[in-house]
Amino acid sequence: MKLAIIADIHGNALALEAVLADIKRHQVDDILNLGDHLSGPLEAKRTADILINSHMISISGNHDRTMVDLTFDEMGKSDQAAYRQLDATHVNWLRELKDTHLYNDEIFMCHGSPKSNLDMWMEQIMPNGAFALASQNQIENYAIGINHPIILCGHTHIPRIVRLSGGRILINPGSVGFPAFGEKEPVDFYMQNGIPDACYVILEKISNQWMPSFHYVPYDSLAAAEMAKIAGFDDWVSGLTTGWYQKH
Ligand SMILES: [Fe+2]
Repeated sequence: MKLAIIADIHGNALALEAVLADIKRHQVDDILNLGDHLSGPLEAKRTADILINSHMISISGNHDRTMVDLTFDEMGKSDQAAYRQLDATHVNWLRELKDTHLYNDEIFMCHGSPKSNLDMWMEQIMPNGAFALASQNQIENYAIGINHPIILCGHTHIPRIVRLSGGRILINPGSVGFPAFGEKEPVDFYMQNGIPDACYVILEKISNQWMPSFHYVPYDSLAAAEMAKIAGFDDWVSGLTTGWYQKH
């Protein structure tokens, strides 16, 4: 079996198209998509149309949830920017997405952790605001009760693989569309991958062993950065252009 794992597209249709073209080369059985599909100032509508017309298995991320649970005025700026582009078909699609999914009885999918789409499963924020690998204890604790050989999460946009107790493999495929971001509230933090390319994972089962591999796909990230700039999202521009976060 061969699968593609994608997450955190954030309305970046250009990055998604590049990733889907690359996935095609690998001839996978299925694409598993871990959420935060549309939120942001880029191409939410076009991204939603691509996803709705695909056969991939998608779950809901925290931004997908807030875009259907909150009123427009209650939403954050990036959710509002995406929501403005959507029609009822897109919103209904978001509403139908589940928070978790079990694929083929062996792959558990969630966005943050099994408990919450807001949990940062494998990362912690350091005193200087940077993201770092969380403690082994934290990572193992979120996985209690999930006894499937492969566990997938997204949310932090940081590509990472950890081997859990019992041989289980925990994978965050990184972000298709948004490689660096920062916040000032409620805490000051930033995340940066140092590369603008779209990131995803190919997961292959060979001789009963699962083998994950990360793939970085170059695409026209300058065009995406230009869209962010035109929309007034200056804090997206550096991340999309370079993969590094620049404070604003
Ligand atoms: Fe998220």
